[in-house]
Amino acid sequence: LSSKVTLNNGQKMPVEGLGVWKATLHEASFAVETAIKDGYLLIDTAKQYGNEAGVGDGIRKGLAATGKKREDLFITTKVFNGDQGYQKTLDNFQGSLDRLGLDYLDLYLIHWPVDGLYKETWQALEKLYSEGKVKSIGVSNFDQEHMDDLLQDATVTPAVDQIEFNPLLQQEEMRDYAKKIDMKIEAWSPLGGGQALNDPKLKKIADQYGKSVAQVILRWDLQSNIITIPKSVHAQRIEQNADIYDFELSDDDMGAISLLNQNKRSLWYQDFDWHTPHKQNAYHDEVDQ
Ligand code: A2P
Repeated sequence: LSSKVTLNNGQKMPVEGLGVWKATLHEASFAVETAIKDGYLLIDTAKQYGNEAGVGDGIRKGLAATGKKREDLFITTKVFNGDQGYQKTLDNFQGSLDRLGLDYLDLYLIHWPVDGLYKETWQALEKLYSEGKVKSIGVSNFDQEHMDDLLQDATVTPAVDQIEFNPLLQQEEMRDYAKKIDMKIEAWSPLGGGQALNDPKLKKIADQYGKSVAQVILRWDLQSNIITIPKSVHAQRIEQNADIYDFELSDDDMGAISLLNQNKRSLWYQDFDWHTPHKQNAYHDEVDQ
């Protein structure tokens, strides 16, 4: 869990962390506190998840319980679609910091490449970066076309592109592209939102190592140089997902997993309208105690 990669700006980022998409405020607080106690250093949220305040609560509790410091952690959040544009992004960044109860972020991402706005949004991220309010900046759900377009005017190359990635969706082209520009790929829904957990071939491999399918998938991420952020709100799973440093997948098994690719996106993705910036921005300001 303490393993880190060096990003293209020299900052170090943990290779595995906790995701909290779909977690309520309370669940997020519990999951983050539990994860920090288990040794997780990377926590990934987004304004759109509506749980930044819960994450902040969990961070404070986790730090208090472990004696760790804010600087030991690596906290990511994201600017959502309806909040994009130069000034709106600057304002929203401050809102996220306030909800999280932090005075800087480790990584701020453009959540989706909203047409006509993401370049302006990137300029705001570059400003926040130059002011030291965020240590690294990146994108999420950008394909090669978006990246080429962004890089035409960018002065900072995104450190990370966080994309949907799991054994059924291996994103080979984007990984090659990222390598060329020295950008890291981070996997959202690395367990395929739970879907990949039922794969019989993965189950067979997992049984050989005496590990769960989730552990095999997450280990495969690490050995593939993909930063990974499995989501769970259950203590046992949070602990299990971090217990992947005592085994190594053989080349044969790595090869067998690479054959599972089906370029299969999650079902909701096909219907999700991320091109237009009018979508929901609901969030909650406080954790009900
Ligand atoms: P839960 O939060 O109830 O534990 P992904 O990160 O790919 O989106 O997958 C998250 C889904 O997988 C969630 O539904 C989560 O459920 C579940 N999950 C997370 N870790 C495990 C695990 N180790 N075993 C089984 N299910 C898991």
